[in-house]
Amino acid sequence: MPHNGVVSDFDPGRRKRPAVTNEATRLAVADEEISRMDDAALIEGIARLREERNAVILAHNYQIPAIQDLADFVGDSLALSQQAAATDADVIVFCGVEFMAETAAILCPEQTVLLPDPAAGCSLAEMATVEQVRRWKKDHPGAVTVAYINTHAAVKAEVDYVCTSSNARKVIDAIPEDKEILFLPDMFLGAYLKQTTGRKIHLWLGECHVHAGIRPENIKEQLAAHPDADLLLHPECGCISQCMLSLAQGDLPKERTFILGTGGMLKHARECEGKTELIGTEVGMLHRLKKENPNKRFLPVREDAICEYMKTITLPKVYRSLRDMVYPVTVPPEIAKKARLAIDRMLALA
Ligand code: 13P
Ligand code: SF4
Repeated sequence: MPHNGVVSDFDPGRRKRPAVTNEATRLAVADEEISRMDDAALIEGIARLREERNAVILAHNYQIPAIQDLADFVGDSLALSQQAAATDADVIVFCGVEFMAETAAILCPEQTVLLPDPAAGCSLAEMATVEQVRRWKKDHPGAVTVAYINTHAAVKAEVDYVCTSSNARKVIDAIPEDKEILFLPDMFLGAYLKQTTGRKIHLWLGECHVHAGIRPENIKEQLAAHPDADLLLHPECGCISQCMLSLAQGDLPKERTFILGTGGMLKHARECEGKTELIGTEVGMLHRLKKENPNKRFLPVREDAICEYMKTITLPKVYRSLRDMVYPVTVPPEIAKKARLAIDRMLALA
């Protein structure tokens, strides 16, 4: 195993990935109006409908360039939650994946939250069910439970804190020293937090299939080809534990290796002096990095690190979403109330 923590009863062999069924693609193709529209017409139509509906378009950093370019706000999971909580728009079109839209629905119960494609799931969020989490908590009475934001709303309702890649350390530090912590569902982020804080953190054996595929050998190859580059790694990467070890042993350059969420990567790129950056995360990240820093070079650690769920959202689907008000994302009030407590604890720290 890539960590030495207490493990959960999650069996990776049972993992279930949400299927990308592209229901909306099928409908969009069958939709005569949309099939006649080119990209320029779709962008114009989206702008008109956005105005008419008093809508805001939020997009995650992994969205396709066309979506990032038309969004009112592009950001990481934390910034998107903050943006949703602050908007007074009547409609929020969430260009991201389901758990993100659910978080927005919890934070904005009076507004309509739309996910342009219901197939935009998340393999990591699928790795923890309510029943499993309840059993885990029962096995560790007195422990504080922290869920990464990449979880279903019903799972968030079972935990004490939610966190994102950009504030996970802050959340762990806010928990009294004498408390044991149950961290789910990402084992790589959990192991990283355990190593860097020295806290007693129990790990759930979940992973994101995209980030888990970024392995130590990819890092080795890229650094050999670009020896002066900065290395920016998302803490969900499958190479994190090995990279932490390599850093401690001096096999990775301490002054040029950074473990950051997607928002942290953008900040680093704006502020650092290095000219070449190796990016260890989903490749959608490269669009904004390049756009904001035209004089720097950004290279993916793996070109095939592609989240198919993030890529289901396209211009025709956003147009259709605003035109037909599909697909509304709602969370049952009793779940939303409990999940909101854990989300608010995180937002208060942020
Ligand atoms: P960030 O919060 O760093 O944007 O990460 C979200 C995510 O889904 C990572 O795969
Ligand atoms: Fe989920 Fe991984 Fe896609 Fe992020 S990159 S949305 S964690 S499947």
